[in-house]
Amino acid sequence: MERRSFLNTLFSASLGLGFYRIGAPSLTKEKSNQKLSFTFEDNKVTYYLKGLPKPMKIIQISDTHLWRDDARGEQFREYKARMEKAYNVTKHYKTGAETNPEKSFEDVLGYAVSTKADLIVLTGDIFSFPSEAAIEWAYEKLKQTGIPFLYVAGNHDWHYEGMKGSLQELRSSWTKQRLLKMYQGNDPLMGSYTLNGIKVLVLDNSVFDVTPEQLDYFRKQKKDGIPFMVFMHIPMYIPGKSSGIGDPAWGAAMDKGYETEKRERWREGGHIKSTFDFWDELFASENLLGIFTGHFHRQYVDVVNGIPQFVSAANAMGAFTDISFVQVK
Ligand SMILES: [Fe+2]
Repeated sequence: MERRSFLNTLFSASLGLGFYRIGAPSLTKEKSNQKLSFTFEDNKVTYYLKGLPKPMKIIQISDTHLWRDDARGEQFREYKARMEKAYNVTKHYKTGAETNPEKSFEDVLGYAVSTKADLIVLTGDIFSFPSEAAIEWAYEKLKQTGIPFLYVAGNHDWHYEGMKGSLQELRSSWTKQRLLKMYQGNDPLMGSYTLNGIKVLVLDNSVFDVTPEQLDYFRKQKKDGIPFMVFMHIPMYIPGKSSGIGDPAWGAAMDKGYETEKRERWREGGHIKSTFDFWDELFASENLLGIFTGHFHRQYVDVVNGIPQFVSAANAMGAFTDISFVQVK
């Protein structure tokens, strides 16, 4: 899409829908007058939904940055040197007390079990690099909870700094080699799980684009009109706010991190068309309850066209997002 028409689309979408007119996430296919109601307090998001068959809870974990490794990782020493040290000891986001990624991960899983969570969604950068030891450790801990989980990669999970290859090539090779078990048989780039009348979609946008195949998948998943949530690593662009997927200015000139992260620089030409189309269609979705992301390691919410986009703080510092669904009579 041309930059100009993309901007026009944004402008007309904002005007047409209005900022306060919120979609109608009826749990039936028929439209209702029900508006989307939620609260966001500390790390807790609570939705109040009419027609919800029973209450439920989803725990989102993002940016744990696990770094454990063993002899199998020796041959990759030069590629993991920086990230292996980046999160050895961290400060808890709330208490300021010393902690570390493994403790934070075990704590949130313990919380998920004790609160009887229905689903855990992991939104990327769970690993600081694709270490076999860390992946095995996390997978076993997740299995021990007995709670179903969905995983989608972030830009670090598949990245060994300094390794040759495009972002797409590196993602493709490491998701298939090392991270595969985390997907439990699902496609690494996209997946869905329907729970209690709500669809949970995961999409990998860790190369800063949404592929035509992912866009097709999104369109098919959205067609049935079931209320849905989208989980991804990198937040979507908020018009007027710099950065985020779908930013018309995204590209090489904006890339400040490629030398530090020793990776291919972002493309000169900006996002591919399917990324912009995804942006348009995502924020025009009537039944979208919310977008849940991470990447920036800070907790906040932005709203576009009445659709909230939550950004989770980093689990490396003990944070996570607790998403509850309450029945409204
Ligand atoms: Fe991260």
